Amino acid sequence: MTHHERLLIIDFGSQVTQLIARRLRELNVYCEIHPFNKVTDGFLAEFAPKAVILSGGPASVFAEGAPMPPKTVFDLGVPVLGICYGQQVMMHCLGGQVERGHGTAEFGRAFVTPTAAQTDLLDGWFATDREQVWMSHGDHVSKIAPGFEVYGTSPNAPFAITADVERRFYAVQFHPEVHHTPNGAKFYENFVRIAGFAGDWTMGAYREDAIAKIREQVGDKQVICGLSGGVDSSVAAVLIHEAIGDQLTCVFVDHGLLRQNEAEEVVKMFSENYSIPLIHADESELFLGKLDGVSDPETKRKIIGGLFIDVFQKYANQIEGAEFLAQGTLYPDVIESVSFSGGPSVTIKSHHNVGGLPEKMGLKLVEPLRELFKDEVRALGRELGLPPSFIGRHPFPGPGLAIRCPGEITREKLAILKKADAVYIDQIRKHGLYDDIWQAFVAILPVRTVGVMGDGRTYDFACALRAVTSVDGMTADYYPFTHDFLGETATRIINEVQGINRVTYDITSKPPGTIEWE
Ligand code: XMP
Repeated sequence: MTHHERLLIIDFGSQVTQLIARRLRELNVYCEIHPFNKVTDGFLAEFAPKAVILSGGPASVFAEGAPMPPKTVFDLGVPVLGICYGQQVMMHCLGGQVERGHGTAEFGRAFVTPTAAQTDLLDGWFATDREQVWMSHGDHVSKIAPGFEVYGTSPNAPFAITADVERRFYAVQFHPEVHHTPNGAKFYENFVRIAGFAGDWTMGAYREDAIAKIREQVGDKQVICGLSGGVDSSVAAVLIHEAIGDQLTCVFVDHGLLRQNEAEEVVKMFSENYSIPLIHADESELFLGKLDGVSDPETKRKIIGGLFIDVFQKYANQIEGAEFLAQGTLYPDVIESVSFSGGPSVTIKSHHNVGGLPEKMGLKLVEPLRELFKDEVRALGRELGLPPSFIGRHPFPGPGLAIRCPGEITREKLAILKKADAVYIDQIRKHGLYDDIWQAFVAILPVRTVGVMGDGRTYDFACALRAVTSVDGMTADYYPFTHDFLGETATRIINEVQGINRVTYDITSKPPGTIEWE
């Protein structure tokens, strides 16, 4: 894809590097995050950034083998912004000094006051005599590099905001990308303006670029696309269809772990709105059979992932001349984050995908969404004219209800779960809360509890309601329903769903929890 204006974020492992990218995308600036150890001189020459941001990170410039960018970053003649560890790196590389914490570490909210010096970087800042910022540092800069001046200070960071205006190098000790720096968006807006970005990276432009790229990649060959009914694969399918028409065939695999009426709704939406050839593969017997008696979460995920590949392969073989496999992979899935443990990061969950398929079948991948965040995919969906009800749907995981049924999966439990989930979502919609919530679902618990209904004793399943707010699923907060809503919903579920006699609400955030129960 030809993004003529690109900003490079060099990642040193900060927990909030992705937020830098989000702030920039909100300004219609195209950017990519790359780990510091992949950014070589050759990479820089090819990427040709119009500006560079050095992220924060947990390391110390004093550590042996401390992560550093190539020195050539400072010879490109483009603006460079260093944030937190990025500031320390900049000073270290350009002739300043960094000191160990020793009583000057700062974590959390701090207030920066301006000096007499002026810079365009701070346009719109300091309407009052101080700005709230968010700090998170142990080491700090003790001497700024030649050519730099100080533009803001905080009690523990005398060099909170520094710049060499001539060379357009900017370095700050705090994190302007987090919400706790309330005026941070303005700060980034100033930086990209100084760098000369036109801010023209819009969804319309993305759509045109993506279509041209798909046509170029695919030529006159056939493409197959696994459709899950979720937003990502649907948007990918519609985009590819717009690019290559009937060279695309979609395969919708029903593994028997979908929500109530989901299969019918997906097939209806596609057949009513698009003339994309669609294979509806009902493989529920196969999946449920293989999951029989399995209760370990990772085993469930592996079985489902493996079966997806088998089933997909079976149907793909029926499509003459298929050479490409389309997937709705998103940017958060492809960002390679820096691991300082020296090894690969811990596997929390094996996320389902059809990753094994391309090699096995000799297929090449088409992934037109791999540069987008979830909300950008939704914006692209709107741009492509997908029905709003479809675009706004809550995300649904590939392994489906299997991971909302902790312990053994039985057909009885699945039937109860589908009904309870439908009542819960109906409640959320009736109360006008659906669009405020990022994801909501019921999990059926592997425990029966005693209750009393009418004059009789019940011994039925307990379930947990889950509802979270989130931006991208990486972190999440539980949704603060009112007690009235929770009470009414519990009553409805118990009255309307036979098999459940107790309802709980999950108030765990992520981290430490995850969104799904398995
Ligand atoms: P967790 O449970 O890891 O979930 O906090 C984060 C988001 O990812 C979804 N999820 C999955 N999506 N395949 C998917 O396509 C998976 O295997 C998978 N596991 C979790 C989950 O629903 C939530 O939106």
